[in-house]
Amino acid sequence: MDAKVDITHPLDPLSLAEIAQAVAILTAAKGLGAYHRFPIVRLEEPAKAELAAWRAGAPLPRLAFLLTLDVTTGEASEAIVDLLTAHVTSFTILPNDQPPYGQPPVMIEEFIRAEEIVKADAGWRAAVAKRGITEADIPLVQVDPFSSGFFGRDFEKGRRIVRAVSYWREDIRDNGYAHPIEGVVAVVDLIANKVVDLVDEEKIVPVPKKKRNYGREAFPDVRTDIKPLDIVQRQGPSFTVDGWRVEWQNWSFRVGFTPREGLVLHELAITDGGKLRPVIFRASVTEMVVPYADPTANHYWKSAFDAGEYGLGRLANQLELGCDCLGHIHYFDVPAADDLGQPFVMKNAICMHEEDYGTLWKHYEFRNGIYETRRSRRLVISFFATVGNYDYGFYWYLYQDGTIQLEAKLTGIIQTAAVTPGEVYPWGGMVDEGLGGPTHQHFFNARLHMDIDGGGNTVTEHEFAPRAWGEDNPYGNVFDTKTRTLKRELDSPAVANGETGRYWKVANPQAVNSVGKAPGYKLVVTPTPVMLAQEGSTVARRGGFAKKHIWVTAFDKGEKYASGDYPNVNAGGGGLPAYVAQNRPIENADVVLWHSFGHTHVCKPEDFPIMPVEYAGFLLKPNGFFAGNIAMNLPPEKNAHSRDNREAGDDEGGKEGSGKTGGGSCCH
Ligand code: CO
Repeated sequence: MDAKVDITHPLDPLSLAEIAQAVAILTAAKGLGAYHRFPIVRLEEPAKAELAAWRAGAPLPRLAFLLTLDVTTGEASEAIVDLLTAHVTSFTILPNDQPPYGQPPVMIEEFIRAEEIVKADAGWRAAVAKRGITEADIPLVQVDPFSSGFFGRDFEKGRRIVRAVSYWREDIRDNGYAHPIEGVVAVVDLIANKVVDLVDEEKIVPVPKKKRNYGREAFPDVRTDIKPLDIVQRQGPSFTVDGWRVEWQNWSFRVGFTPREGLVLHELAITDGGKLRPVIFRASVTEMVVPYADPTANHYWKSAFDAGEYGLGRLANQLELGCDCLGHIHYFDVPAADDLGQPFVMKNAICMHEEDYGTLWKHYEFRNGIYETRRSRRLVISFFATVGNYDYGFYWYLYQDGTIQLEAKLTGIIQTAAVTPGEVYPWGGMVDEGLGGPTHQHFFNARLHMDIDGGGNTVTEHEFAPRAWGEDNPYGNVFDTKTRTLKRELDSPAVANGETGRYWKVANPQAVNSVGKAPGYKLVVTPTPVMLAQEGSTVARRGGFAKKHIWVTAFDKGEKYASGDYPNVNAGGGGLPAYVAQNRPIENADVVLWHSFGHTHVCKPEDFPIMPVEYAGFLLKPNGFFAGNIAMNLPPEKNAHSRDNREAGDDEGGKEGSGKTGGGSCCH
């Protein structure tokens, strides 16, 4: 339920006490000093088989994974601490001085340190002075330490660097992204604590000075024609929460949270005919990358891997009641470790609530007057992470008909480029005078460790094709659904296709549904562009997962992330392309379905100063999993608080009924 609950299950996130214990055990065993940091501390989760062998009441297997970084040498290590025996069971120094390199994620304290290093650098001060930045301006200049990318330069190989871009601000509350300082990029070595390379372009582009602020003081005249819209649940919500376990309608699952992925859903299952049927063993978003399509100095290297280079969980927001989610909210507080390994509580990091979702099913039969309508309700489990300029919401939805949905919400502030007045910005769209927004793409990757009815699962690919005219198609109206079984990993990488309606299905070939087929779930994807950067480009090597919408791998507990373990300052080649290169069998196997999805973003004035939410995501829909529409038994009560605007009534609308949802009256 929150950071203080007792640990009762092997999948429960590490508690505050366990985090402190793990850090203390490792610190003592390896003689770690004040110069060590802990960019990641998390539960090392038990595998499916280990979990199946565990029974409630038995001792809990509790392993902690710790990533350490020596900030004086740059040496990084991975450790596993067994909390039951209080021993370090594995300890590995990362070979991050060898190709393909790779660094622990950028830490919060480094955001601050990078800014200090940049501002103290004489070369940088001279470069910004050429752009009209005075000594008096410098304290208020905003420095963004951006994950650097990798281009094979000596100062990148095996080094812990960030590339820093800067923004003028007249006031601390100004939106710096309205005032980019173009043509100046400082490369900061976070171990040497100095600027190791400085780009100071010959062409001077004036800093745009027009204010485009977004704080409430910038919009004093708020709308007055909007009345409250209240979500009222007088009898409370329909879900129950026991520690990290949730039940709602027929669904049950466990909530998890990691520094890299943020929200994780474990053991998602649905009760059908009195039997709990597994659907997904573990679901999360393991990466999010934003490659930019501007070849100039401030932008060509920008390709933030927000999960692997920063950590979506580490940057989760504290959600606010009545703002982020409406209605009767259950918050999960998440125990976490700061950069120093100190435990702390991420308050209100996960929000869970119910939402009305319009019509679920309906029919009117004029012959006999049967008129049935049922409204849809969904359970929403969500969190928001702010990674530099952008803010991302991750919303899992569970529906009463067995549908599962993930929706990413993209908002926040676009990256910007200063444009010389009178010139046209060629690498994106203009958003204001002297201000362009570079074209870019956002790619998420969801990792779905499937578990349809337990046991082995098989993934098939399907698409529609018109049938040729012939004896079996005399009227030309027939079309076929073509099916391809993905037998080995290299059969799996694929792109969506809107023309053929390509979709994928995960089924359990050992089970039989009501019509004699294997029960399954269908993955419904949106055929948006995959990564458009050239094959062989540095970002395509590093973010190869985004070159395909679909990948299927045989489960391996070491293969956790679409972009590999350490994408930061990494030369690339890791992650999904490397995983599937093993070409393991995936038919009737313990499979992981990985789905890359995203949004291709050409900037426009409406994106500024804060972009209205864009959506990206996917659906998993039962497809031969159930014997019929499982939502037929929803109660038919009317909502008693709905009212006809033409009729007079009090603010409550309708009358309090017998205590039931609709006061006893029915939808026809
Ligand atoms: Co965007």
